[in-house]
Amino acid sequence: MAFPENFIQELIDRNDIVDVIGSYVNLSKRSGANLFGLCPFHNERTPSFAVNPSGQFYHCFGCGKGGGVINFIMEIENLSYPDAVRHLAARVGMEVPDDGYDKDSKRRARLLELNRDAAKFFYEQLSAPDGQNAVRYMRERGISPQTAKRFGLGCAPDSWESLRKAMAEKGYSDFELFDAGLVKRGQRGGFYDTFRNRLMFPVIDVRGDVIGFSGRILGGDGAKYMNSPDTLVYNKSRNLFAMNLAKKSKNGYLLLVEGNVDVVTLHQAGFDSAVASLGTSLTPEQARLMSRYTKEVIIAYDSDGAGQKAAQRAIGILERLDLKVRVLRMTGAKDPDEFIRMKGADAFANLLKDSENQVDYRLNTVKAKYDLSLDDQKVSYLKEASELLASLPGQVERQVYAIRVAGEAGIGQDAVIREVERRRKILLSRLKKDYERDITRPEKAVQPAERTMRYSNPGAAAAEEGIIRLLYLEPALVREELPGAKEFSSEALGKIYSVIKAAIESGTSVSVNALAPKLAQEEMNLLVRIIQKPERLSESRSILADYVRRMREEQDRKGGSEDLKALSEKLRKEKGFRP
Ligand code: CTP
Ligand code: MN
Repeated sequence: MAFPENFIQELIDRNDIVDVIGSYVNLSKRSGANLFGLCPFHNERTPSFAVNPSGQFYHCFGCGKGGGVINFIMEIENLSYPDAVRHLAARVGMEVPDDGYDKDSKRRARLLELNRDAAKFFYEQLSAPDGQNAVRYMRERGISPQTAKRFGLGCAPDSWESLRKAMAEKGYSDFELFDAGLVKRGQRGGFYDTFRNRLMFPVIDVRGDVIGFSGRILGGDGAKYMNSPDTLVYNKSRNLFAMNLAKKSKNGYLLLVEGNVDVVTLHQAGFDSAVASLGTSLTPEQARLMSRYTKEVIIAYDSDGAGQKAAQRAIGILERLDLKVRVLRMTGAKDPDEFIRMKGADAFANLLKDSENQVDYRLNTVKAKYDLSLDDQKVSYLKEASELLASLPGQVERQVYAIRVAGEAGIGQDAVIREVERRRKILLSRLKKDYERDITRPEKAVQPAERTMRYSNPGAAAAEEGIIRLLYLEPALVREELPGAKEFSSEALGKIYSVIKAAIESGTSVSVNALAPKLAQEEMNLLVRIIQKPERLSESRSILADYVRRMREEQDRKGGSEDLKALSEKLRKEKGFRP
């Protein structure tokens, strides 16, 4: 990487990982060498996110994310490696060396420029013959020209290379278009437009940059929506459609909906704080983005079962960030767009006013499932409702709602309160057990979290992990007799191993931060998981030899048994032999 090593070293020294992470995560529990808090990268109720002050790394036992302070900033702030370094430098007032100004930020700037030009091209089609199907479509759906302008909506013509040609004229190469996800590569190597015959929604981030596109089909076959792939400047799980506009709203709440079209219709009807999660279900990163601009989120998902289920999930994610959550109940229409078209903006404003806080919403959802005039259903209702109330953190809150449930079921208040508190106790002891299991048995997760990195030979991989761990913790072992990276059964582990070995051999320091630019985030997650497991360093040389022997044995065993199988198969085929 372009940054000098001593600069990175000082940067890391001055940005203590506990301080840095502590400003995002409440690290309130200590256990062994680690501080624990709720993981900012996935949704959880018991802390499994560990920060190790002496090793200066973090690791989540739940989702498997991990790394050093630079990785953390990259992940949480959605920055590239050099930008994360700059962010940390600014945090402690360090000057960034000039030659650290790298090509990534130039490439980013160029990509953003291309995206902006592409958005302009799509928009201009609305006044050209090629874009008239989109104009017609918007008219049918009641999207006005002013609204189209405000969102920068446009049209991708029904053609294989109209964008490609237009951008070539502006000097962009096919490869740049490819990196932006705007063209795809055909089987014979040629390039063609990704978006064809679609109504185009540019995705604009809070800085006002066009970072990607979402295209709704205008006719013919194909998926209803097509979205930009993740690129150097676009990550759909970290952005929200229309956040650039919604952040300026004076509403005091954000309105979270499912569809791009819903967002557009809502803004047009005056509800200017609507946003949508770009074809993903709501992610913690998107929730965090919202929490930067508001304290309250009103969920207005589709009224079908899928929408309601997604709403329950979103509630959990938003609540973790201390956001006040309300849920809007819509009847007689499938989504906000249809509702407004059928009943008008005033009717929607009434829905907003009546939107329930999340406990009301969940209780009412439970209640709707049962007929309370029947005794057995009443019992089931009480069970489910008390289970739900048991999960509320505040005792007063639990009581208030218990009294209400008692009234609805027509039974004594004390009985319900007692039932809720009984379940609360059970719940707490279960959570505590989960928590203790998680922190005392990190080896529980034997496989990497990333599917594509799954071990084909877990026995050998365990030994390979051991080799990596020892070498990382005790670089002097590089002088011992070591296996080649090709000998590793797991490609990912082989890569990590060779990166560490190369760093030691070239005299660079071995720390997660120094290795960060050389490893992909998934590889870093894996490395951190490996190094935070306990290791007996007192006899490191003999243990290393032991790991190497075990790695080879496990591989022989697997390979051997497969050879045997193949042999007997061959015999059976050739000679009719049956073992
Ligand atoms: N989506 C997607 N890919 C699909 C379908 C949907 O990425 N094949 C995403 C889009 O971001 C879309 C959202 O999921 O906006 C919600 O889907 P849907 O309700 O079907 O789309 P709308 O935008 O509401 O479009 P319409 O009103 O025309 O149905
Ligand atoms: Mn829809």
